Amino acid sequence: MPESTENTLQFDVEKYVRNSKKVDISDLDLAQALNYPVTDEEVRALTYMCDIESHTIVYLRAILNTCAIEDPQTTSFLSCWAYEEFFHGHTIRQFLNAIGAPVSATRMLEVQQASSFTEWLKELGSSILCRFSRYFHGAYLTYGAISELSTLEGYGVLARRTKNPILAEIVRRLAKDERRHFSFYYNKAKLELQARNAQRLTNFVIRNFWLPVGGGVKSDSEVSWILSFILGDPDGEEIASRIDGTIARLPGLEWFDRLSRSRTEALQEMGRAPRRHSNANYPQSALAESRV
Ligand SMILES: [Fe+2]
Ligand SMILES: [Fe+2]
Repeated sequence: MPESTENTLQFDVEKYVRNSKKVDISDLDLAQALNYPVTDEEVRALTYMCDIESHTIVYLRAILNTCAIEDPQTTSFLSCWAYEEFFHGHTIRQFLNAIGAPVSATRMLEVQQASSFTEWLKELGSSILCRFSRYFHGAYLTYGAISELSTLEGYGVLARRTKNPILAEIVRRLAKDERRHFSFYYNKAKLELQARNAQRLTNFVIRNFWLPVGGGVKSDSEVSWILSFILGDPDGEEIASRIDGTIARLPGLEWFDRLSRSRTEALQEMGRAPRRHSNANYPQSALAESRV
């Protein structure tokens, strides 16, 4: 049955729901992971991402308090999305256990308790804003697109950089899921942001409340650390501007430069002067392969 142009979503939600499954690493021998190097920084980054992936259920509670609950495509997507994200956290945890850097059983609760007041406020604000504006959909979809794209690129960096082939394969598989998640948020945001009022509200929310992945959940210093670890080198500058450029193609978001700005601020905070990339032929990352 042909859909009206208005409701046509380039991302096929039905197909996503049909194919949704937990990330499968049953063919990987995790015991082999110890035979290859894993740096302390990689363990720290994986612990960070394990915390954030495992926090998805808390984020889901917040998002379901908003008008997201009114949209059947979104609720279908979110049901499967939360399931897949849970297994991302679970998989990282399995890897950390295998290399002797286990995450404590009470970790998720500790992370929740450490979540900041601003996180709570954002949750409250979202549900209130929804009552007054039907245009709020564009804001959370845009927020989701930025988070998924940042995560996808982050796993891509880890996969390319690590000398541990088991870890590289795991994060590549996670990135594959993140690409599908990004595609949903991005394509749906593009539709929602056709309305000028949606653009205005989204700009207001993103300009005032946007935080990098893990912001409001992890400490500010830990957020700066991960930004400088993932994006700190010259390739990272390219990646940050590529994320900015992709988000800036959303209607009304032409100004978006937050990844590059956050990268610069994080590097300053870490006492590292931002370096510029010298190779204009830097290979396109996973994003280039993704049709958005
Ligand atoms: Fe994930
Ligand atoms: Fe995701």
